[in-house]
Amino acid sequence: KKQYRIAVIPGDGIGKEVVPEGVRVLEQVAQKFQFEIKFDWFDFASCDYYEKHGNMMPEDWKDKIGKHDAIFFGAVGWPAKVPDHISLWQSLILFRRDFDQYANVRPVRLMPGVPSPLANRKPGDIDFWVVRENTEGEYSSIGGRMFKDTDREVVVQETVMSRQGVDRILKYAFELAMKTPKKHLTSATKSNGISITMPYWDERVEAMAKNYPEIKWDKYHIDILTALFVMHPDRFNVVVASNLFGDILSDLGPACTGTIGIAPAGNINPERLYPSVFEPVHGSAPDIAGQNIANPIGQIWSGAMMLEHLGEPDAAAAIVTAIENTLKEPKLRTRDLGGKANTEEAGKAITAAI
Ligand code: NAD
Ligand code: IPM
Ligand code: MN
Repeated sequence: KKQYRIAVIPGDGIGKEVVPEGVRVLEQVAQKFQFEIKFDWFDFASCDYYEKHGNMMPEDWKDKIGKHDAIFFGAVGWPAKVPDHISLWQSLILFRRDFDQYANVRPVRLMPGVPSPLANRKPGDIDFWVVRENTEGEYSSIGGRMFKDTDREVVVQETVMSRQGVDRILKYAFELAMKTPKKHLTSATKSNGISITMPYWDERVEAMAKNYPEIKWDKYHIDILTALFVMHPDRFNVVVASNLFGDILSDLGPACTGTIGIAPAGNINPERLYPSVFEPVHGSAPDIAGQNIANPIGQIWSGAMMLEHLGEPDAAAAIVTAIENTLKEPKLRTRDLGGKANTEEAGKAITAAI
């Protein structure tokens, strides 16, 4: 029997409610497909941990989770306790950077039976990938604050794009596009306004495209691209974007599919030198936390992405099918999709469908 070791980090807020549902489904599918998963649970990378220890994570966090086959993560952030930039830079963003998870892969799919907020859209009309650069770009720690608390105060934060960093995410996205029937790729840019880094991004896209003559590709400035996501989501297949643009597109895309509560993500180190992190796109949702009403599907689908990454594609597909079949039943949907099911009921329904 194959065995996998997974580090489980629920984090904050609804992370603590949806992660157990994700684990429930993984346990079920492991039994069905006859492999074993050993889950090691960790309480760090949470604002509760910060309250107790003054840090988001123990010093030896890398020894604790760096050797696992993957990390199954919920959500982090509780701004009432810890400022977001501290909690996030000391946890999730640190994982992405230290584990060199440069590809943040976020599928966007309108599921059968789920109404889209966009008129007349049916499954198949919205079915694409956002591939987000995940280690550099607009998320840099280079900058500073001068003349603090005076009326001459100035703050600066640099965008960093390295040739290696840009090329590797573009290569990842083109390779993904090659595996899709549509063989189409869209690049998000803003080279009309952001006059140094974004023209560079465009230049590297053009250079990379030469290696993939079969791929039809286009580029749009991020402003009109957000409009096109709403007006013509059917035009997209693989959308590659810098760190910030990818962040924005990967909330907008799922919103067009009815809820951000179902959207999954893989923070992937393709070279497999480090574990990858699988987590929903959404955050800790303090506004609904503690009520057992969050949609667990983003977490559960992230589990499917994790199995795909581990080399269990049949088990991964079984999870996605179970999600689809469960969503067809309005009464098994959570409140964000107009249903009445609670988090646990939705998780158990998907488990039963497997
Ligand atoms: P959020 O994604 O937590 O919530 C946005 C809205 O979507 C809220 O109204 C919430 O109730 C709803 N929502 C989110 N997930 C849902 C689900 N599964 N089911 C039903 N409704 C859901 O974003 P936010 O409010 O901007 O951020 C809250 C905290 O989470 C902040 O601390 C933020 O920094 C953090 N955050 C963390 C991650 C992450 O860990 N990857 C991602 C985004 C935000
Ligand atoms: C995400 C989140 C994070 C990001 C935040 C919480 C730092 O929004 O994973 O999409 O911006 O990457
Ligand atoms: Mn985001």
